[in-house]
Amino acid sequence: MTDHSPDQRSSRKLIIAIDGPAGAGKSTIASRLARKLGYVNLESGAMYRALALKAIQKDISLDDETALVKLAETLRIRLEPTIGGNRTLLDGQDVSSRIRERDVTEAASRVSVHPKVREWMVAHQRAMGAGGGIVMEGRDIGTKVFPDADLKIFLDADPVVREQRRMQQQKLKGEVAANLAAELRERDHRDRTRAISPLVPAEDAVVIDSTSMTEDQVLQKIDELLSATTG
Ligand code: DC
Repeated sequence: MTDHSPDQRSSRKLIIAIDGPAGAGKSTIASRLARKLGYVNLESGAMYRALALKAIQKDISLDDETALVKLAETLRIRLEPTIGGNRTLLDGQDVSSRIRERDVTEAASRVSVHPKVREWMVAHQRAMGAGGGIVMEGRDIGTKVFPDADLKIFLDADPVVREQRRMQQQKLKGEVAANLAAELRERDHRDRTRAISPLVPAEDAVVIDSTSMTEDQVLQKIDELLSATTG
């Protein structure tokens, strides 16, 4: 499967949900798939990250749910797809790199446990995807945001492999890498055990374990599932 020109297989604009833990390859797969289909790629994690960044900037406690929801209402986030992935603009400023830094990563996981913050996010994500023609990735897209999505993928991988991928992505070694691995495990645990919308595969999601798969193989598998979906 190449991902240069939009795929004309279905004229109906589908909603494709890709959920899974950090380091499973969601962002790369979602962005390549969206490009191939001529769809919009919405990275829902970037919205939690943007809120977390703004909370850090404004010195708002990550435990203050009411203040975080108020802050969310002032957020102006734009997600722009580029060849290299999504660009995130917060209040007109490009924060794409900043929101990947460790303090924001940790803070995003913490703001995402609050039910009212999630309500706000889900409402906005639904509005953005309502017209279809979207590949949305996150943790609760198939379970909560779009329970009726046309195709639901749960992309998983062995935790050790996910940690290695993250370290390679960020070119980390030694103690810094060990810290990152510990943080990833902690974040995973928080995402999977939170009371509201924990990270679990939707009942009708197809679980793809990418531990020993290349990106192309994952895309090939999704392509087959799409063909089955669209007939
Ligand atoms: O996908 P990501 O690593 O950029 O997500 C950042 C954090 O946001 C992650 O710790 C969990 C949270 N998140 C979420 O709770 N629900 C989503 N749909 C997307 C992200």
